[in-house]
Amino acid sequence: MSKKLLLQHIDVPGINTYEVYRKQGGYKAVEKALKEMTADQILEEVKTSGLRGRGGAGFPTGMKWSFLAKPEGVARYLVCNADESEPGTFKDRYLMEKIPHLLIEGMIASSFALGANTAYIYIRGEYFYVHRILENAIKEAYANGWLGKNILGTGYDLDLYMQIGAGAYICGEETALLESLEGKRGNPRIKPPFPAVAGLWGRPTVVNNVETIAAVVPIINEGGANYANIGVGKSTGTKLISASGHINKPGVYEIELGLPVEEFIYSDQYCGGIRNGKELKAVVAGGSSVPILPKELILKTAAGEPRLMSYESLGDGGFQTGTMLGSGGFIVMDEDTSIVKNLYTFSRFYHHESCGQCSPCREGTGWMEKILKKIISGNGTLSDVDLLWDIQSKIEGKTICPLGEAAAWPVAAAIRHFRKEFEEYVTNPQNIVDVKHYYRVNNLAAV
Ligand SMILES: Cc1cc2nc3c(=O)[nH]c(=O)nc-3n(C[C@H](O)[C@H](O)[C@H](O)COP(=O)(O)O)c2cc1C
Repeated sequence: MSKKLLLQHIDVPGINTYEVYRKQGGYKAVEKALKEMTADQILEEVKTSGLRGRGGAGFPTGMKWSFLAKPEGVARYLVCNADESEPGTFKDRYLMEKIPHLLIEGMIASSFALGANTAYIYIRGEYFYVHRILENAIKEAYANGWLGKNILGTGYDLDLYMQIGAGAYICGEETALLESLEGKRGNPRIKPPFPAVAGLWGRPTVVNNVETIAAVVPIINEGGANYANIGVGKSTGTKLISASGHINKPGVYEIELGLPVEEFIYSDQYCGGIRNGKELKAVVAGGSSVPILPKELILKTAAGEPRLMSYESLGDGGFQTGTMLGSGGFIVMDEDTSIVKNLYTFSRFYHHESCGQCSPCREGTGWMEKILKKIISGNGTLSDVDLLWDIQSKIEGKTICPLGEAAAWPVAAAIRHFRKEFEEYVTNPQNIVDVKHYYRVNNLAAV
């Protein structure tokens, strides 16, 4: 069995309640942090742990915390990003639903380390029932003296608020999130200044993902060095993976970073192989925005090494032959999957979710969706495939926030690795089941 740091008590009945969580050793990290450690010592432990942000970019958490401006007498904030809207990613929901006090405990210890007296959890609007669970857990934490004034008699005060989003993917981008939290339309801000200098209400702010903040609890309990001993290279600790698609056992798995991808897909301990005895065709390893890889490249790097579930190994080869761990949204596709149709679904999503501030993203996502629709409806031409490639290449690096990249990368990777499939759609549309379906549902003459 691999080591579990976040989900080790997940099967204990009632672990979502304060009493049971506490009985399982819950809130010990807060006791240790507030009574035995200084803020700087906690920061050092987090740095030593090698923890990297679990929200997608994998930025070292200790380094991010150390950027926080510390002017005396100025409020600073910790904001938890629980917006989780990346298609294929559902591990934060699982964690908040099943073991909400772990996040609250992480919020308290992290806020103390950052010198914040006010903290927010910005949660995805659609997670209705999780709002209730989290709200109830926050109430329990207040009632038991873990939040509020003079926590554990240490003189440290912390108020924790939950803010519900209104169902916009863009509000997961940290500066759009801060705008939304301030009551404005969630448009990403131009950076610099970064949130660590001017974040919420213009004050120094750290924005971290749910899983990142939860990981601070085992780091304090077990020590940063012990955390760093788990994993491989600069991919330390454990990672929650949301596994979905054509596998026998979809769900959320806590893995030690460095696990071979092949083992993750085929072992009964994890995904349990491809369902219905089918062949693996492709995987989107880190949420819909990361490049898709065909079977040959997801199982082995271009150099023939086994591909591992780690930031470095998944990224090996750059985007020519590699991808990203991202937020750990692992979408498995079997041999019957239409890469083109799947891409159309992703592109529709990014077009819908573009905030419209930057023209390359606003216009580009719209054109990509339109062209893909033309192709899957059997009306595309070979030059449409080239046009699609051209449009995606004009978005990356030209927008205020990375939603542009999130929309462009999947298009580029699908064409790079599955160009033949696009060509088949435009040259032999009569052979494509999706095209026939499109004509049927739109009541058009058969192709
Ligand atoms: C369009 C867009 C959506 C994002 N959505 C999320 C999200 O839902 N949750 C999240 O933690 N990070 C999301 N991010 C990344 C955040 O901007 C930010 O990097 C992250 O919250 C930092 O936390 P971490 O360092 O703990 O990973 C998104 C980024 C972009 C560009």
